[in-house]
Amino acid sequence: MKLAGRIAIITGGGSGIGRATALRFAAEGAQLVLVDRDRAAAEETAGLLAGTGPLPQIHAGDVGKPGFAERVASEALAAFGRIDVLVTAAGFSSGGTVLTTTPEDWNAVFSANVGGTWLFARAVIPAMQRQGSGAIVTFASQLALAGGRGNSAYIAAKGAILSLTRTMALDFAEHGIRVNAIAPGAIDTPMLRRSFARHADPQPVREASRNRHAMKRFGRAEEVAEAALYLASDASSFSTGTTLVVDGGWLAA
Ligand SMILES: NC(=O)c1ccc[n+]([C@@H]2O[C@H](COP(=O)([O-])OP(=O)(O)OC[C@H]3O[C@@H](n4cnc5c(N)ncnc54)[C@H](O)[C@@H]3O)[C@@H](O)[C@H]2O)c1
Repeated sequence: MKLAGRIAIITGGGSGIGRATALRFAAEGAQLVLVDRDRAAAEETAGLLAGTGPLPQIHAGDVGKPGFAERVASEALAAFGRIDVLVTAAGFSSGGTVLTTTPEDWNAVFSANVGGTWLFARAVIPAMQRQGSGAIVTFASQLALAGGRGNSAYIAAKGAILSLTRTMALDFAEHGIRVNAIAPGAIDTPMLRRSFARHADPQPVREASRNRHAMKRFGRAEEVAEAALYLASDASSFSTGTTLVVDGGWLAA
């Protein structure tokens, strides 16, 4: 098992990619700490894990709210004594160009995506430094590398996460901490479905997005969870500061 005995915090563990990652990590022997602002969703993930391994610790709250990440890290440390892996999958998009994005939406998107990544990394890195090891997996998007229309706050936030990932990798490599990002293409999750539903006529937008992938399909959350497993486990022991693109050929075009 690739994560036997490892303690893994997963933000956004209540849905989509975070949930699939939780299921994959549990199957590889990890003890999970699930974080989501939707407690019922996190509990549903925990229910799906039943029989796979130990019960996960669950924390409901907003990842962008100062103080929350510290509480999660200290309760994880109190229960398990170490933190080996952090996956920051919590995030969302609001849609909108710079003209149609409100300051409230801009701040909320940055708070969840960039703030949540920063605050959780900040909360777990001291424990990882003491251990001399740790793996952090952040979530960007193919749109941060290719660009995209009508989603300005989200795409800017994902670009910031890529830069943050690289700078953390440099700052903490000497402590045995690896920090890598995943840039998924369009993955069939509740978030993707919500983003299409924002359009007056979602079907052509959905079709165009699907066909933009060389593979002419959307990705599955489970396919991204495999990338998260690779970056969280010793299989990627010489990778840090990099971005693993899982996009069905979106960027190849
Ligand atoms: N689905 C895609 O096409 C796609 C593409 C590229 C990147 N991503 C990224 O992958 C990650 C997971 O996306 P997904 O598609 O699984 O989304 P999802 O909406 O299915 O799941 C995201 C989870 O994060 C939680 N969450 C959101 N904001 C939060 C906050 N402030 N505090 C705590 N929890 C919060 C939600 O409650 C939800 O359970 C996100 O960072 C997303 O931006 C997704």
